[in-house]
Amino acid sequence: MSKKVIDLLNGARSRELTAISQYMSQHYELEDSDFGKLASKFKEVAIAEMKHAEKLADRILFLKGEPTSKPDGVAKKGQQIPEMLTTNIGLEVQAVKMYNEASMVCASEKDQISKKLFEELLKDEEGHLNYFENIKDHVDKLGASYLVTLTG
Ligand SMILES: [Fe+2]
Ligand SMILES: [Fe+2]
Repeated sequence: MSKKVIDLLNGARSRELTAISQYMSQHYELEDSDFGKLASKFKEVAIAEMKHAEKLADRILFLKGEPTSKPDGVAKKGQQIPEMLTTNIGLEVQAVKMYNEASMVCASEKDQISKKLFEELLKDEEGHLNYFENIKDHVDKLGASYLVTLTG
């Protein structure tokens, strides 16, 4: 099996681990500042990324590789909600780009299963991107009056 594909899967896993730690740390910060509704949604996305990291590990093990446990970045702390959203949009944009490219490499390496996995993840990341962009739009347009709806 292709080392190239295993490296891509591990690169993706590192990316997922960064996203998990970023979204979980935002979840705790938002809970602390009483933005409970937003906090629980961020936690939901973090759990989706955990499942991605697991699926990637399963595939890496199947290919006789070693799943990495190293994130490829550090979670930013102490951001305000608009900056959090910008951070998250950046993470999802990078993931979308990575997984699009990875799925094409898997095709050229003739690994249809890894290709399918990247496509499946890609679909979720596009959903996350859309979700974060929507909230950012509302925050930009409506400001404080919208933020109030995210408390609880
Ligand atoms: Fe993910
Ligand atoms: Fe995501």
